[in-house]
Amino acid sequence: MSLPSLARVSSAPAATLRAFGRKLASIGVSLAAAAPIVEAALAVAPGLRQPIRAFHLRRLETPVGHAMRMFLFSDPVTIDEARSALGELTDVLIDLGLLERCAGGGFASPFVLSIIDDLLILSDDLAHGQDAVMGFGETTVELCGAAFPRRNVQRVLDLGCGSGTAALLLAKRARAVVGADINPRAVALSKINAAINGVTNVEFRVGDLFAPVAGETFDLIVSQPPFVPRPQGMGASAFLYGGPRGDELSLTLLGKLAPHLAPNGRALLVVEWPDHGTEALDVRLRKAIDSGDVSLLLLRTPHTELDGHAVSYAAGLHPTLGRPFEQEARVRREHLEQMGIRALLPTLLVIERADPTPGWTMTVAIEALSRVSFTSERIDKLMLAQAVAASPERLLASRLRMPAGTVLSEEQVGPGAEVPSTLHARFAPAALIPPLQLTIELLALLTFIHESPNVRAAIERFAAELEIPLDEATPRSIEAVARALREGILEIPSA
Ligand SMILES: C[S@@+](CC[C@H](N)C(=O)[O-])C[C@H]1O[C@@H](n2cnc3c(N)ncnc32)[C@H](O)[C@@H]1O
Repeated sequence: MSLPSLARVSSAPAATLRAFGRKLASIGVSLAAAAPIVEAALAVAPGLRQPIRAFHLRRLETPVGHAMRMFLFSDPVTIDEARSALGELTDVLIDLGLLERCAGGGFASPFVLSIIDDLLILSDDLAHGQDAVMGFGETTVELCGAAFPRRNVQRVLDLGCGSGTAALLLAKRARAVVGADINPRAVALSKINAAINGVTNVEFRVGDLFAPVAGETFDLIVSQPPFVPRPQGMGASAFLYGGPRGDELSLTLLGKLAPHLAPNGRALLVVEWPDHGTEALDVRLRKAIDSGDVSLLLLRTPHTELDGHAVSYAAGLHPTLGRPFEQEARVRREHLEQMGIRALLPTLLVIERADPTPGWTMTVAIEALSRVSFTSERIDKLMLAQAVAASPERLLASRLRMPAGTVLSEEQVGPGAEVPSTLHARFAPAALIPPLQLTIELLALLTFIHESPNVRAAIERFAAELEIPLDEATPRSIEAVARALREGILEIPSA
């Protein structure tokens, strides 16, 4: 199956593509309109969703229903239905190759249109393999959510931009954005998407990793490089494979990243790393970064089992399952075994230019990104907490609090004064911290910190009340407070 040509649409006037975007918006194509169709099919397995979506869509019989069938859900409509949705643009879109007559009759787009926020993103059907350009997935949405800055920034880089989703979304908060990709088709589709959405502060360039931005620095860099391990003999795919182990390209990227961060610059990367059971992941990544000028926060979500990995990627490429799916899943599973990979470790990496240098390295275990929904505000808090925890002087001078909604409780097993009791801290669901068993000393320390203007004053009170010499209490307490701050049991209150 060959990829649909971009030749005509790439040379279309920007005004024509913008008219297409405006037309879809004006007839009501939006995230809200598509949501009920997507949700209706969520209860069935991915490979079985098409007929359910088609059933619900066909009942709409409205211009927005016809447009969603043609562009979002690959369900052909008659030429009259196409005209009722698109009016005189119908023939223009057929001419550009954005709409075509399908083999089984009717008209539909050979591309896939997806919606994120208020942006329309055109991409390829990944069944084309090879140079097919990925639309955004769940992890792209998570990456964009974690990166979207609270305040405007100057320059943003979307490295391996695919169909341009992150670049176009972050353009709302940036003076200028560069999207770069090794696949010329990705850059061509990104440019088309910029035109469809009328985004003008984004530039797209072709090239390997940072080559297209040599000598340039950015306030924000985002990337979701291809990180899937590539079995021998498996066809090339720019969006999927990071090398035979999967991490080769990501490690190279890390080695070249630091010089491209502006002062106070931050990079966010979504990468799944192979676990070989040898070197710890933070040590491996630190070596790859090869610069003391940056700090590294590694947010680790629960690992992926090998069986689950092999099956989910095979199902993604063969959604209708059957023999090709089975064969592909087996080849992938065998390859992981041969490479000595024991599990896959999904991460969100936050890399920031350090001040003062050298930077720190920290790993924080979190729940699956799809459940946590990180925002840049949350990342800002985590980065500040790690920086303060890494510096005893800053820590002693800081005012810290237990997160809002924390419940401290004493549990007694059975009635009677002689039964030992345990102390617990439970946290509000938004804090994402599992319940914790406390010692009486830690409870006292946390309570004094919560009530004191700074950590130094709390430790003095702690030493006095427990009758421990201050020079003995201080180092022990600093260590415990730093750990509590890193784990989120204490936090720096918003100003
Ligand atoms: C997993 S896709 C991510 C696409 C998009 N950023 C997203 O999150 O939806 C990886 C992208 O990296 C690109 N890529 C692969 N190798 C690259 C390289 N050496 N330099 C730049 N881009 C590369 C691929 O073409 C693909 O578009």
